[in-house]
Amino acid sequence: MMDTVLITGGTGMIGRALTDFLLDRGYRVIVYTREMRESPHPNLRYALWDPARKTLDTTALQETNQIVHLAGANVATGRWTESRKQEILDSRVQSSQLLFEQLSQLPNKVRTIISASATGFYGEFEGTPFTETDPPAQDYLGKTCVAWENSVRQMESLGKKVIILRTGIVLSNKGGALKEFIRPVKLGFATVMGSGHQFISWIHLQDLVRLYFNALANDQLNGIYNAVSPFPVTNQELVTQLARVVKGKSFITVNIPAFALKLAMGEMSVEVLKSVKASSAKIQTTGFQFSYPRISDALAQLVASGD
Ligand SMILES: NC(=O)c1ccc[n+]([C@@H]2O[C@H](COP(=O)([O-])OP(=O)(O)OC[C@H]3O[C@@H](n4cnc5c(N)ncnc54)[C@H](OP(=O)(O)O)[C@@H]3O)[C@@H](O)[C@H]2O)c1
Repeated sequence: MMDTVLITGGTGMIGRALTDFLLDRGYRVIVYTREMRESPHPNLRYALWDPARKTLDTTALQETNQIVHLAGANVATGRWTESRKQEILDSRVQSSQLLFEQLSQLPNKVRTIISASATGFYGEFEGTPFTETDPPAQDYLGKTCVAWENSVRQMESLGKKVIILRTGIVLSNKGGALKEFIRPVKLGFATVMGSGHQFISWIHLQDLVRLYFNALANDQLNGIYNAVSPFPVTNQELVTQLARVVKGKSFITVNIPAFALKLAMGEMSVEVLKSVKASSAKIQTTGFQFSYPRISDALAQLVASGD
């Protein structure tokens, strides 16, 4: 019998891609969502939960062998007001807490919890790429990632295996950051942000989905891994490469100064201005091979297969 995998927030960009990948391989998938919808596939079912109200469909949890925990208010949409920042934190911590409480009380056969976290865990890059044992940043994202990871790791005390994927910027042609980068490029502008020298630790959505699958299917994986390609690039390299792929030579490079980004985006501007370079060495030592280690190949594939 193939495993049943429960994906929280499985309606999002990563969750949808992972769901399709698992269904193609014969898995049964249950998606926890706050909004009921029709299933397009016999092996996929949606189940209701509401972490803010501490409610969930207990049957779904009891049918599950492995959990992928992706749910959380989107970090990149809406301005980071105090209440939005609280929502970003609460949606992640309260949802793990709800899983923890229910798994403590209900008879269940869950073996593994695999959770998203983010490279926002780390501080500013200063010469050595961050590895999984490095300390967290003291800023908002750093503190949020620590609370999120701790809320998931308490499930280890229930005898469950916990795997955490500290994920970089996910590149997909179905939404997320790439859509924002492409918009000005389509108008002929390569918009470099701040100095443009800040590093972006990125990963192709297909590689990330294969990484989640590896965490589900490969018993060797355990603990924390950076989910980033082996070759991070600077903001300037990414934007220029993208403009070349989309526009050939016909584009103008525009620099948006850091102060303008801070004005336009508020505190969230750290997301595009902070230099983040995380190491992929640990996941590669498990034998994982990236299909898209290089940004040029990733962008060429994404643009060619985009809508
Ligand atoms: N995309 C990236 O570049 C990236 C990078 C690093 C880390 N990650 C992390 O990976 C996870 C998945 O990312 P994604 O890009 O697939 O996210 P996404 O497209 O924003 O989807 C997240 C899902 O979480 C659920 N959700 C949203 N707000 C919620 C709330 N207040 N309470 C409970 N559930 C809520 C939604 O499902 P329902 O509306 O159906 O309930 C939504 O479909 C996130 O935790 C994200 O932080 C993503």
